[in-house]
Amino acid sequence: MSAGSEFVVVANRLPVDLETLPDGGTRWKRSPGGLVTALEPILRGNKGAWVGWPGLPDVDVDPIVEDGLDLYPVKLSAQEVADYYEGFSNASLWPLYHDVIVKPVYDRKWWAAYVEVNRRFADATAKVAAQGATVWIQDYQLQLVPKMLRMLRPDLTIGFFLHIPFPPVELFMQMPWRTEIVEGLLGADLIGFHLPGGAQNFLYLARRLAGQPTSRGNVGVRSKLGVVQVGFRTVRVGAFPISIDSGQLDELSKSKSIRDRAKQIRKELGNPTNILLGVDRLDYTKGIDVRLNALRELLEEDRVDPEETVIVQLATPSRERVDSYVQMRGDIEQQVGRINGEYGRVGHPVVHYLHKPVPREELLAFFVAADLMLVTPLRDGMNLVAKEYVACRSDLGGALVLSEFTGAAAELRQAYLCNPHDLDSVKDAMIDALTQDREAGRRRMRALRRQVLTHNVDRWARSFLTALSHGGVAGSALMPD
Ligand code: ADP
Ligand code: F6P
Repeated sequence: MSAGSEFVVVANRLPVDLETLPDGGTRWKRSPGGLVTALEPILRGNKGAWVGWPGLPDVDVDPIVEDGLDLYPVKLSAQEVADYYEGFSNASLWPLYHDVIVKPVYDRKWWAAYVEVNRRFADATAKVAAQGATVWIQDYQLQLVPKMLRMLRPDLTIGFFLHIPFPPVELFMQMPWRTEIVEGLLGADLIGFHLPGGAQNFLYLARRLAGQPTSRGNVGVRSKLGVVQVGFRTVRVGAFPISIDSGQLDELSKSKSIRDRAKQIRKELGNPTNILLGVDRLDYTKGIDVRLNALRELLEEDRVDPEETVIVQLATPSRERVDSYVQMRGDIEQQVGRINGEYGRVGHPVVHYLHKPVPREELLAFFVAADLMLVTPLRDGMNLVAKEYVACRSDLGGALVLSEFTGAAAELRQAYLCNPHDLDSVKDAMIDALTQDREAGRRRMRALRRQVLTHNVDRWARSFLTALSHGGVAGSALMPD
């Protein structure tokens, strides 16, 4: 076997995405989403390899070396993108794991493609990993890879982390291939979730569906791990809330160029009293419709002044060929039009909506400029945007309205928490935040920043990888069913 890499990350996407240009050429751009935001800084600092899809169908791309990071592209056909990625990953698993906000579709052809593509990722990883290497598999698109890889390469140490919520048992039981998924994950040595609740749900399913004995005690955050005994192997299960490179964002957001740009943004928006901000992939889980509805009702009720209030909604295009995303985009754009039609003036819209990714520095300037950050998902595994906003507010200004249904809400308790299923709760949180006493607001932001700056992504990765290499702190004794 060739030397190979000692540390390999396996994710559906590479950290960079191939994009087709109007002239038919291609170029690399940063991949969307929180997974890349979180993992990229860790991998760039440590020599390693990344196995993933380059983002376009049917392209042959050679391995690339970038900043000491070896990128190994996995080729997917157009049919596989339709069945494995858009189908099983994003029209079956994604809605099922996000509380069935839209109805999951279960299609045998999509499942067959999921199995096939997971096998291809496992094969590619088996070729890249050095003898005894550590392999870290990421997210719901690759839940079968741990078992497939273990069968090919029993010498490897295998970790798996789920970046989205793990659903309640009653919902997971809908999945026609539920046992295969649980057994696929049990190929790992350590399975990580954001929250203890996800870990506990999984332990229950490992007993019920895979028939394996598990620990029964509570799982702690980064501490007490659960265990599943799979024959002679002990699989550990834990909660590791992901985070961001908060120190870097804190530094960058203090730079003169970003401060100046933030002032300019305020000016371009007409120097209103209140700038509200939403930053999301355009996804139905994010509750963009919820915040727009809340704002419309507040305008209707004269509780906010359209002359003094604007909302900026930055929405990165996402999964644009999946039906539920097409439908949602139409609905949101209609809401934007309705609010502007009713409450805007020529040259003064209330809603400024961009359907494109914003460059990183520009995004940080928006965070610095915003008085109120609106993070209102109906369900979100973590939500890094909430943490990014806090990291950028060294001035202790601004306020965060945060849905209770995000993983971040478990840590950011001093945010203005709201229930996105209850519009009055969202409206009240917005008004409380907009009318907060300056000192009280600064106290809240100071407490939020303490949490975000001391729990950065480096700590997340270290706690996971330490537990993976040392076997972690075992939970309570095994109890056979
Ligand atoms: P998800 O992983 O579901 O997309 P997260 O909130 O965890 O959600 O992570 C999203 C990441 O993508 C964050 O780093 C955020 O800054 C970035 N992002 C989201 N929307 C935009 C946008 N419109 N322009 C640029 N970056 C964005
Ligand atoms: O964190 C959830 C996640 O689905 C990641 O797995 C993914 O990289 C990101 O959001 C963006 O989604 P997609 O890769 O489907 O564009």
